[in-house]
Amino acid sequence: MRQAIANAVVGDDYLDGDPTTRRLEEEVARRFGKERGLFFPSGTMANQGAIWALGEPGTELYVDRHAHIVDRELAAASALAGMQLRTVEGDGPMMDAAALERTIRHPSPFFPRATLLCLENTHNSAGGMVIPRAGIQAMSQVARQHGMRVHLDGARLWNASVATGTALAEFAALADTVMVSFSKGLGAPAGAVLVGEAAAIARADEHRKRLGGVMRQSGILAAGCLHGLEHHLERLAVDHHHAAQFAATVDRAIAASVVPPETNIVMIDLAPGMSAHDVAGRAREAGVAMGVWTSTRLRTVFHLDVSAAEVERAGEVVLAALDESWRALGDTSEWPVAEGGGTP
Ligand SMILES: Cc1ncc(COP(=O)(O)O)c(C=O)c1O
Repeated sequence: MRQAIANAVVGDDYLDGDPTTRRLEEEVARRFGKERGLFFPSGTMANQGAIWALGEPGTELYVDRHAHIVDRELAAASALAGMQLRTVEGDGPMMDAAALERTIRHPSPFFPRATLLCLENTHNSAGGMVIPRAGIQAMSQVARQHGMRVHLDGARLWNASVATGTALAEFAALADTVMVSFSKGLGAPAGAVLVGEAAAIARADEHRKRLGGVMRQSGILAAGCLHGLEHHLERLAVDHHHAAQFAATVDRAIAASVVPPETNIVMIDLAPGMSAHDVAGRAREAGVAMGVWTSTRLRTVFHLDVSAAEVERAGEVVLAALDESWRALGDTSEWPVAEGGGTP
């Protein structure tokens, strides 16, 4: 990837276009079956460009209660696009069509209109869970019936596609715009592409400029993204396998339960009273980095820089950190320990 970046043919994307960036935009649009692609420095900016392009100020955007767009984009959709976020609470770990249907307000002069649905696949907060094509289709159908447009935050749609065998274009056909990120499983240093019909992307292009997201020799970054697309896509299955192996080891912990991974993310929930910071600190001392998602939930991610040997070692280190942290609490009476230890 470093070589591809060094050898990139570049132009000036601010003036007349950068050839490598154009190649990336065209290639992603082709793979997703959309008219046009647009390169952004980050997934967050691409999501916001899409929301601003598709939504209307003074109306509502419907989104899962734990989506990246709600939890981690600092209310940008309200600050920039002037939209109110209405969060949808699913019965399970993610929203579904039934939950969406019962949350959408019926048309009334007293309520804000519903204009946009944002979906996320895979779902980061739910532990990299996949929304299968049928689920996306059902939610998209509900949105269309209510006159809403649909944006898909597909930062990890690559993983959903590899895990299910569903083609990227099949997912993309169900949304007006799709954002995909290159700086996650594909391993590029930065970059996201937003795809959609030409008119929507032209509007997103204006917003990208407004946000200061146009870069000059952006081909230097686009070359890394193209390399990731051409060399690191199929191998995501290896990360999924690593996540499953790690989860099986950590699930032996006395007082923690693992969300069974569907892709490359493993969420670990701790018994009441335990501290995610304490477990992460113990693991860090032994050389394994974990994300503290909440005070009782840890997040681990498997990617191309983690080898099979490291996966094995990480599993043992995290298992030991979990058990040590639990024992350090002293009182073990309240946690229901399942047979074999782990997931109750
Ligand atoms: C689901 C999802 N959407 C969007 C983003 C934002 O991407 P970026 O970090 O490139 O802004 C992330 C980043 O983690 C994400 O997980």
